Amino acid sequence: MKQIIAPSILSADFTNLERDIKAAERGGADYFHIDVMDGHFVPNISYGSIMVRTMKKITNIPLDVHLMIEDPDKYIPEFIDAGADLVIPHVEAPYDIYRSVQLINNLGAQAGVALNPGTPLCCIEPLIEQIEAVLIMSVCPGFGGQSFQPESLKKVRQLREMLDDLKPSVHVAIDGGIGRNNIQEVQRAGANFFVMGSAVFRQDDIEKTVKELKGVVESR
Ligand code: DX5
Ligand code: ZN
Repeated sequence: MKQIIAPSILSADFTNLERDIKAAERGGADYFHIDVMDGHFVPNISYGSIMVRTMKKITNIPLDVHLMIEDPDKYIPEFIDAGADLVIPHVEAPYDIYRSVQLINNLGAQAGVALNPGTPLCCIEPLIEQIEAVLIMSVCPGFGGQSFQPESLKKVRQLREMLDDLKPSVHVAIDGGIGRNNIQEVQRAGANFFVMGSAVFRQDDIEKTVKELKGVVESR
């Protein structure tokens, strides 16, 4: 399975966004992860589709857009129009996730689904045929720089098994507190898509950091 490094731009230096993105790109980033927060679904507000549009001007690397918002269906069309390649709403929001996934696919983007730490895997089974990635949150979503919750390793293992049975091409993505100290452990558990904010952008040499992280996951 392809190993994917997806720096989360939430931790980038916004006064030097292009510089940080280019550095991660030289390091070999495979995706850029864009965290959209609405202040309702999570207790923080980040940015909307304008960030996706801006990123598309800076980079050709695909963008995965993590929608931590209450009403994704209302905004999915504008995110795809702005250039989102992989759109990842949460299964916990008070709406029909199946409908959101269909909407994303009908608009020509790839769909993923995200699960909070307390959400069991069973609810995604009916969706698997329609999606390309499952994003396991290894922290409570809303903020960068939190500590990895080790309970998520079990979920990653179970998810990989479930996908191997049903649709092996689906990526197991992990998001929250991932870095050099635990990336191999989550990889061994079955993750192949690693979202990292502070472990990439809060480092002195972003290019070298991404190269090292890629080297670690590809050496396996
Ligand atoms: C958290 C976000 C993450 C965040 C990760 O709610 O979904 O993508 O940017 O940041 P780190 O890697 O610093 O935990
Ligand atoms: Zn995220």
